[in-house]
Amino acid sequence: IVKKQQGKPSFHLRPPHNWLNDPNGPVYYKGVYHLFYQYNPYGSVFNKTIVWAHSVSRDLVNWIHLNNALVPTAPFDINSCWSGSTTIIPGNKPVVLYTGIDNKNQQVQNLATPRNLSDPFLKEWVKYSGNPLITPPKGVKPDNFRDPTTAWKGRDGIWRVVVGGLINNLGVAFLYRSKDFVHWILHDDPLYFGINTGIWECPDFYPVSVNSRLGVENSANGKNLKYVLKASFEAHDYYAIGSYDSAKEKFMPDNKGLSGSSLDLRYDYGKFYASKSFYDSLKKRRILWGWINESDSSVDDIKKGWAGIQSIPRQVYLSNTGRQLIQWPVKEIEKLRAKHVTYSGKKLKPKSIFEVTGITTSQFDIELSFKLPSIEEAEVFDPKWDDPQVLCSTKTARVSSRAGPFGLLVMASQDLTEQTAVFFHVFKDNQQFVVLMCSDQSRSSLRQGIDKTTYGAFIRMDNEDEVISLKSLVDHSVIESFGAEGRACITARVYPRFLEKKDTHVYVFNNGSGGIAIETLDAWSMKKTKNN
Ligand code: FRU
Repeated sequence: IVKKQQGKPSFHLRPPHNWLNDPNGPVYYKGVYHLFYQYNPYGSVFNKTIVWAHSVSRDLVNWIHLNNALVPTAPFDINSCWSGSTTIIPGNKPVVLYTGIDNKNQQVQNLATPRNLSDPFLKEWVKYSGNPLITPPKGVKPDNFRDPTTAWKGRDGIWRVVVGGLINNLGVAFLYRSKDFVHWILHDDPLYFGINTGIWECPDFYPVSVNSRLGVENSANGKNLKYVLKASFEAHDYYAIGSYDSAKEKFMPDNKGLSGSSLDLRYDYGKFYASKSFYDSLKKRRILWGWINESDSSVDDIKKGWAGIQSIPRQVYLSNTGRQLIQWPVKEIEKLRAKHVTYSGKKLKPKSIFEVTGITTSQFDIELSFKLPSIEEAEVFDPKWDDPQVLCSTKTARVSSRAGPFGLLVMASQDLTEQTAVFFHVFKDNQQFVVLMCSDQSRSSLRQGIDKTTYGAFIRMDNEDEVISLKSLVDHSVIESFGAEGRACITARVYPRFLEKKDTHVYVFNNGSGGIAIETLDAWSMKKTKNN
């Protein structure tokens, strides 16, 4: 029997009831963080009336739920207010561009502005009377055109915005330009596109600094910047890093990207979709939010009365190599840390396991680092391995090699009949370590009818690396894991049967044939957030 509270997270953002999906229009304004999101006010499955729910926070941790900000009212959005973004225009004025499903079921792009700019909570929004601003271009089907990005202004003073879509077999980031934010003209060439990817949803496009964790706002330009283009398709958020030439209106990825291949870069190799980033002008960083869907059935979701959560917001920045992004939960989340346990210098013999005790085992934060074995000990990486997710289904937590698997068993029952394994296998490719990171949900629950797909990611280690770290934020049914200081992220949902009995355990394991040293291990109980 599925209960209402079953698996309900305690420190992730979600409204008290009903369905949510994409994060929309995140922004920092006058001391307040805002997150809007796709929400069904009438039930816990996706439906034909989707609105913009609105939550606000002063610390990105505790949230207050306000009234819905945008609901269908007008011919240009009468059939739903779909995803969109906020842009701060000069004069510190936040404005929203969002997709309306209009009275002909076309996807059109609309503008809304706050009624009262002196209200830091931006409670009321006014839709522009001249909406829609943008309708589907020629050749684009009316239901294949949506999700405007945050706009950016070029040195020439002209605004640009990207809208996602599909034309023929191309997933497209359509580019529009405007002098006044109201009249938008389609640029001949898209900013970028992908072949045979399906529709591009929720594009995101932003600059990142080279050699700094500081974020930059969307209209920044100058030296020492690279650009990130993200598109959501085929259930994943893919991104590419490259350069952008605003005179030519071209994004040029450094490597091939956004093709939907298992070797493309992804924000997260588990459940994390339709994400959106924003520049936090208070702390000068870029923050990323993603939608984490359920893995149980809609029937379960109807019984629970809720479905979907927002990820823990992540700070995102370019890695030292410039070849990928690094993501890490925002620092503020650490204020939920309560009871702390720590271990150091512990050795894990081959085929051994030990239990981490003294914390609330269904709601905690754990960080540990393992000493990497000597390169001789690592198995040779087979260049034919091109899909880490597939590899994780053969190199499971039970398949022993000389260097791995080792990692965590979380949301585990004492008899281990239910357990989620988050772990590493260490390989060598020439003289470099390649680590396979897996999150194995196949034994996460004895219940049937749940998606228990195993997820995986490759992490290419640097020559200087001596340890590999793992952090997991566990919040009942949500497990957000960060490998090698945020070089690979995997989010999973699990619904163990024993959850109802609250009898959960956390273990560290080594199933390899060689010993492994734990350099450090810190774990904290996590407090519940207000309003959760
Ligand atoms: C992505 C998406 C968007 C759309 C919204 C509708 O999950 O399909 O493309 O705007 O959700 O809720």
